[in-house]
Amino acid sequence: MESFSAQTKNHCLYKEPNLSLINSCYGLGRFRNKSSRGHLSHVVNVRCNVQQVSLKQVIQFEPTPVLQSVKAFAPATIANLGPGFDFLGCAVEGLGDHVSAEVNEDVEPGKILISFIDGDNNRLSLNPMKNCAGIAAKATMELLGVRSVGLSLALHKGLPLGSGLGSSAASAAAAAVAVNALFGSKLTKSDLVLAGLESEAAVSGYHADNVAPSLMGGFVLVRSYSPLDLIPLPFPSEKELFFVLVTPAFEAPTKEMRAVLPKNITMKDHIQNCSQAAALVAAILQGDACLLGASLSSDSIVEPKRGPLIPGMMAVKAAALETGAFGCTISGAGPTAVAITDTAEKGKAIAVAMVDMFQKKGLLEATASVQKLDRTGARVV
Ligand code: HSE
Repeated sequence: MESFSAQTKNHCLYKEPNLSLINSCYGLGRFRNKSSRGHLSHVVNVRCNVQQVSLKQVIQFEPTPVLQSVKAFAPATIANLGPGFDFLGCAVEGLGDHVSAEVNEDVEPGKILISFIDGDNNRLSLNPMKNCAGIAAKATMELLGVRSVGLSLALHKGLPLGSGLGSSAASAAAAAVAVNALFGSKLTKSDLVLAGLESEAAVSGYHADNVAPSLMGGFVLVRSYSPLDLIPLPFPSEKELFFVLVTPAFEAPTKEMRAVLPKNITMKDHIQNCSQAAALVAAILQGDACLLGASLSSDSIVEPKRGPLIPGMMAVKAAALETGAFGCTISGAGPTAVAITDTAEKGKAIAVAMVDMFQKKGLLEATASVQKLDRTGARVV
């Protein structure tokens, strides 16, 4: 594992937490003693797949379409944000997917047809039950109680597949918003997250940290899955925050990247990640980009397992910090790396350093962009 002493070179007051201090205050001995008395265990069980909520119709009477066709956009997202595995995520401007939905009399009532997909290099299925947009659209119809109308969808992929930018969630979010809009937008964004979760569960795992921010915009905390409890975390509008997103030519399918995660973690790692995730929430609410970067950079559970599987990732993180980023980690399940800064100019310099390092250490070409927070989420366009 590379050293990140370079972090002290940025203009950030926050330093990596001193793990030896954590050990001395809350060391394993203390927990072992309690554990031996049966009060506390120092091993925490990690559940990657939480119980799935079943969909129930939430609208009393079957709605009729208010539009013949509609197009929706849903933004890219950064899931996990370091220590927030499966419970923190945010939406970013500039990148995303479009879905058009249309009432189609040739489609069996209550069913979906996917008539067209582009931007996917012919890799996605037209079978609606094997396609993120199709599954979310069908789930949205179920929530609405639509049984008498058939719909067709066209999906325009703006996001690369398996990139760590919430590609599947953006397709699901755009489809859910488009179908909801066809019937007068009777469902709330939180309802639509349930539809998006059906889709995520089918393709990668039951996690809302992409689909919730893609639908709702901004930063979102998933406090609970059962029942689903989502807390939007407003980042003050007057504060500056830029995300440097660098995507190497490498695929990291979420399903596979979830399979490498540990089944159990130590109490020490649990404390470290919880405190960093709590600091991240404080940083978001205070609009403190510097603390946000430092806490995002401090995941000691997931990043150490996934980082080495993405060629050059750990060197790219070091390069970002060396160039002044407040923090850097893997976006979602990767391979995109995300770094945090507070001006577009610094963001460009950090992007160059990260792209260079992917090439040098990972032997991978990479593309970069510097983006702001998307505060709106999925919308009709
Ligand atoms: N929380 C999910 C994971 C996000 O890291 O597996 C995937 O984009």
